[in-house]
Amino acid sequence: MILIISLIFSLLSFSNASVLDFCVADYAAPNGPAGYSCKKPTKVTADDFAYSGLGISGNTSNIIKAAVTPAFDAQFGGLNGLGISAARLDLAPGGVIPLHTHAGASELLYVVEGSIHAGFISSANAVYLKTLNKERYYGIPPRLAALPNQCSKFPTPLIVQTTFIDAAVVKKLKGVLGGSG
Ligand SMILES: *[C@@H]1O[C@H](CO)[C@@H](O)[C@H](O)[C@H]1NC(C)=O
Repeated sequence: MILIISLIFSLLSFSNASVLDFCVADYAAPNGPAGYSCKKPTKVTADDFAYSGLGISGNTSNIIKAAVTPAFDAQFGGLNGLGISAARLDLAPGGVIPLHTHAGASELLYVVEGSIHAGFISSANAVYLKTLNKERYYGIPPRLAALPNQCSKFPTPLIVQTTFIDAAVVKKLKGVLGGSG
């Protein structure tokens, strides 16, 4: 079992945070246009800024052999409006996190246990792939799209594994898009 902690830093600015010191999510109140309502400051305690939900391993008995345990504002009210979130990723051997993007957010991966292959694709179609062993950090720049035509330089087995598209289809797409391998 491999454990990775992923921190996601949003580049978006939050209007709530600029007016108040903090806006701890009040899950009991209705949402406003900017998201969660803020808990009344007099009701906020130090416990609102602490979270223990990432101590529990996720269930990897699924098609991706991986589990993402979020510590986002929906779970961890103290993070609301801070522009930061975290997640615990558990991967069984052969587990994958499918290709995805974080629009407007940078990501920092930290490998707690085991090793993974991590990568991203730049807007200029360059592929950055790295094997990360235990205790390595990996920074992923913001707004990097993993569009199908940008996947043409990824090795076919990796695309098959991360998209669940079968190899024949990947090779056919690469043929059309000018890729190889
Ligand atoms: C993990 O998920 C599988 C499939 O949904 C389920 O059968 C199994 O009981 C779960 N294991 C635990 C420990 O929750």
